[in-house]
Parts: sequence; structure tokens; C-alpha cells
Amino acid sequence: MLFINNKPLSIVTTSLLLLISGAAQALQSAATIDPYAINDGQIPSKTEYNGPLWRFNHDYSQTAAQSDRPWTKVLNGKPLNKDNAQAYIEALKQAVAKDMRIMVTKPKEWNSADHNWYSMLWAGEAIEKSGWEGREAVYGTYTGQILPAATYAKSGLKVDIRNHATIYYNDVAANTLQRVWQKCHQGQKDCTPTLTNNAAQFDEGSLVVKSAGVTASGEQWPVMQGAATWQIYRPPFDLHGTIPGKPPVVTNIYVGIFDIIVKDSVAAPETGWVFTTLVYDKDAPGNDAWDRMVPFGAMWGNDPDVNSAQHPEQALQQTYVNPAAPAYSKVTLGYGGRLSGPFDIAVKTNVSVDGKIVPKLASSSCLSCHGTSSFHPGSYQALTFFYPVKMPLTTPWTMYTPGSVEWNEWFQNQPGTVPQSKEPGAIALDYSTFMEGALMNYAAVETDKNPHLLQGAKEDFWETWRNWQKARKH
Ligand code: HEC
Repeated sequence: MLFINNKPLSIVTTSLLLLISGAAQALQSAATIDPYAINDGQIPSKTEYNGPLWRFNHDYSQTAAQSDRPWTKVLNGKPLNKDNAQAYIEALKQAVAKDMRIMVTKPKEWNSADHNWYSMLWAGEAIEKSGWEGREAVYGTYTGQILPAATYAKSGLKVDIRNHATIYYNDVAANTLQRVWQKCHQGQKDCTPTLTNNAAQFDEGSLVVKSAGVTASGEQWPVMQGAATWQIYRPPFDLHGTIPGKPPVVTNIYVGIFDIIVKDSVAAPETGWVFTTLVYDKDAPGNDAWDRMVPFGAMWGNDPDVNSAQHPEQALQQTYVNPAAPAYSKVTLGYGGRLSGPFDIAVKTNVSVDGKIVPKLASSSCLSCHGTSSFHPGSYQALTFFYPVKMPLTTPWTMYTPGSVEWNEWFQNQPGTVPQSKEPGAIALDYSTFMEGALMNYAAVETDKNPHLLQGAKEDFWETWRNWQKARKH
């Protein structure tokens, strides 16, 4: 079976010839992808950027790290609820503040300092087959979602924006990275994941932070006035994505969100995770932009007992949204008001619902989207799309009816060991979408090296996977 992707025809033809003439040479390029690559290989000249470059910490500890988990004190041994959620988010912010104030507000210092925060293998280089755009060299960010100016018309956004995010694992979470990548060694070719015996599950006290900035300055979007500024090295974008063929440029981004997710089975007995977000509030008190990152909300379950489509009046019990959070952050809340952040794209536009086009449909949430994370070793097929949409993807998307049994599959509470997909052999990845992305990068390289692995595939699922990635970002 041949997989024709979005490469120019000449390249496709060449690789066809190479495939026919013996696979080895055609596979060369994929085989050179280094899971330990720091960045995508695009380094700015000294005249473009004259500061320290981002460093890749993959020295995952091999023993279970100790963690005193100060945020659990808020709970008094009981599950999280809407009354103590604000205090819980603040305790999480406090717990990461020493390091993350520097990461957010002093990028050059962060790039030169040692710290105990770790990053993902298989995420440095761009990989065309999986649609991965790699990690840029200046601040280690990944390209993210694109939003039209209209999304934030009310808060005065004048330009289309793109979001770029950086992701870090604490020492406890890094134990999982160590387990999954235990067969990998820098400089050696083979870097096969280990997923048996729940290796991809995260231990209690795991923290993963994701902070993202947008390309609009305070002049272009008043809500960003005074926000922390990072420099990144990326090509320009338009509403369709990265503009092909344009070189990267040093670009300023302005930090709008800071997500902290925590494995805490006391707080969240049904899912094991609390997903929280801080957002930038230019009017908040404080001495620097970190102080002005205010709790936006938390969710620790999808509220499966609340059918928000049929009973919109019913209050959610497993999402908390800070009533004092800035107005701009609330226009993109998820299904029935479930938590979703400003750039997560829980609200889809112009989708088809029961035969009618709906201009705006809130159709996701943090845990709903992350809950789809899974992997199918051996076949590598993409298993569950991020949103409750009928497959294959059509234009416009055909959504499952909100509140229907099918739709509700995306809004259950499952432990991280249970995949949403019923496909035999599917492995659940404990709500870690980034782990899913890294595994698919591995799989892209692996199936290039060994095309016979795809012989049983029903379709060109790489095309599907790339579409899914793209679809999620708009
Ligand atoms: C529609 C899908 C979607 C929604 C909604 C979403 N995320 Fe994510 N998130 C992703 C994907 C995909 C990644 C992987 C990194 C990337 O490619 O951007 C990710 C990465 C992350 C990470 C890095 C670690 C990991 O597990 O992947 C954190 C932390 C995170 N998101 C937190 C949140 C929080 C908090 C919310 C809600 C406020 C949220 N996300 C909503 C899709 C989503």
C-alpha cells in the first residue's frame, strides 16, 4: 500500500521509485530523525537573536521522586469541590512559583539556569508524516492553535493570532517519561517506547505545566498589555496554518495562559487528574506578569451526570470557573460551561448538527479532549478524535447530537488506564495528549523504516492523523 501525503508530486514520485527499487534509501530521511533533538534545527543567526537558546532537560530521574504536595492540604482528605477549588489552584500556583516565575517572566535567565523540569523525547524535530512542526530553538515552544480576530472582537483583538506553548514535567511526572522511554539512549538509533504494565500512567504528585503565548501585543489586543514577552523562532502563519516555504523569524509572543495539571486521586477520585488554568489579567494586582496570572478555573471530572444539552439549567459540579477572571477568558468555555481555556478551541464554528449549520458549538473540555489520549502499538492507527464528531471528517464537521449517547462518550469520567476506544489492543495514555503526539512521531518514523508494518491498515491513517492535528488547531 502506498501513502501519498501532502508532499509535492516530484517528491512523491521519487519516493515511489525508491520504494519500488528497494525501500532502504527512501527511508533514510525518516531514519535520521533524532528523538533527542533539542529543536527543529532552525537556529537564528546572532544578528537575529543574541541570547541563550533553549536547553533540553531529559535527565529523567530513575527513582521515584519525593514530593510534599502542599496543594493537598486544601482538601482535608476529601475530594475537591467548587468551594475549595480556587484555593487549590492558588496552592498549585504557589507550589510552582519559584521556578515558573522565572520561566514566564525571565526567558533568558530560564534558558541559562538549571532546574528540575523536564521535556519530551520525540518532539524536537519536525516530522512531516505526523504533521509535527517540532520545537523551536529560542524558547522550546510548539506551534499551536490559530484563532481569527473575530473570536475576541469584544475584547478588541485586531489581528488573527497564533498560540505557541511550552510544556514541562516535574520530577515525579518525569518518572513516567523515564519508564516509557527506558529503552532509549542518546546517540543510539533505537528508541522504542515501553507501554506495558501501565508504564504510561502518571504517579501521584505528577505536575505538568503548559504555558502559552499569543502573537498579538498589547497594542493589537488590549488584554495583553503588560504581559510577559517571549521571543520564539517561527515562520509566519495565516488562518490555514504555517505558511509553507517561508523562513522562520524571531517573533514576540505575549503570555496569556498557564495550565497546571496534577495527578491527585484524592482531589479527583474518578479521573485521577485536576486540570487547572491561570490566565493573564492586566488589571490584577502584583509586581510582575507572573503575579497577574490569575486562576481561571479547574475541572476534575466531565460531569457525566449533567446532560447540559438537554438540561442547560443544571449546574456543573466538577468544573469551577473563577467569577473574577477577566471577561475575555470566558468566551471559549467548553460544552455546557465545562472548563476550557482561551486558546484550546473547545468552541467549534460552522459545524453541522442534525442537518443544520450551527455558527458556534461548545463541544469539548480539558478532560474531554485529553481523555481521548491513546495509542495502538503495532498498528499505530489513530483511535479517537479529540471532539465528538462523526468520522471520517467532512467539511463542515458533522457533530454527534449534543447530549446523545454517542456525544456523551466524550464526557465520561474514566481512570487514565481505560481507553475511550473499544478497539482491542488500545492503550490509554492517562489523559496525556502530548504523550500521544510523541508516540505518533515515533510511529511515523517507525513505519517509514518498516513500511510492511502498515500492510494491514484499512486506510491512509497518517492522512487522517495529520487532518486531526490540523483540525484541532483551528
Ligand atoms: C480540543 C483539545 C484540547 C483541549 C480542549 C485542551 N487541551 Fe490540553 N492539549 C491538547 C493537545 C493535543 C496537547 C498536546 C500538545 C500540543 O500539541 O499542543 C495538549 C497539551 C496539554 C498539556 C501538556 C501535557 C499533556 O498532557 O499533553 C497540558 C498541561 C494541557 N494541555 C492542559 C490543558 C488544560 C488545563 C485544558 C483546559 C483548560 C486543556 N489542556 C484543554 C489538547 C487539548
